[in-house]
Amino acid sequence: MKLILFGPPGAGKGTQAAFLCKRYDIPHISTGELLRAAIAAATPLGARVRTIMDAGQLVDDATVIELVRARLEDDDCRRGFLFDGFPRNIPQAQALVEAEVAVDWVLEIQVPDDHVVDRISGRRVHPASGRIYHVRYDPPKQPDVDDATGEALVQRPDDQEDTVRDRLRVYHEQTGPLARFYRQLAEETATRYGVVDGGNDVAAVQKAIADLLEHS
Ligand code: AP5
Repeated sequence: MKLILFGPPGAGKGTQAAFLCKRYDIPHISTGELLRAAIAAATPLGARVRTIMDAGQLVDDATVIELVRARLEDDDCRRGFLFDGFPRNIPQAQALVEAEVAVDWVLEIQVPDDHVVDRISGRRVHPASGRIYHVRYDPPKQPDVDDATGEALVQRPDDQEDTVRDRLRVYHEQTGPLARFYRQLAEETATRYGVVDGGNDVAAVQKAIADLLEHS
């Protein structure tokens, strides 16, 4: 299975990716996670992208495309993959087409803007694993502690309310047009395109995605 999940910040891409990657036994390729790992490891790439990400802007296409190209060479991608947060604009989507990386499904998770700030302000993450929680909607067993390791959970630096609003603006300007791009691609190729309502609770969204992928 080769999948692209796209949707606004806080749509639940990472949350649903965890379930889908387990179900299909495929790696989760989140460009946000790859970039945050570079920052955490204090690599030259991390130093270059840190302020861009903290401001909620997109990292340049060449950098992101190269990261994804290198990741796709790993053995685990032979059985498929799930892209989360990539492609993020038309040039990145075109780069995939030009590289002849065909995907089975593109799933758009739709969530109204007013849900996004609420979701992101309550998000807590376990940096080492990428596990995602929400203080009210998907709480850890103990507040601010990762269920599996007992390590501390943190808030992402780009989850401040002003930055979230900037990320939403960037999403509508640059990522939103991918809906049209992929609807068109689905008419011309074997790639399928589906939309799910991400405004419901986690289990309902998971069910809607499973129904779409397996019964349509
Ligand atoms: P990235 O890491 O990709 O962030 P994003 O797309 O903004 O998405 P998020 O991770 O914020 O949200 P999500 O949809 O995964 O939601 P989640 O499941 O966590 O990108 C970060 C930055 O990296 C970008 O701004 C950019 O600078 C750079 N970047 C990354 N990719 C790039 C690219 N391709 N090109 C250029 N730059 C790039 O859920 C959110 C919260 O809601 C959680 O607390 C969760 O528990 C909760 N939740 C989830 N689902 C539900 C539900 N159904 N009901 C209630 N709560 C829910």
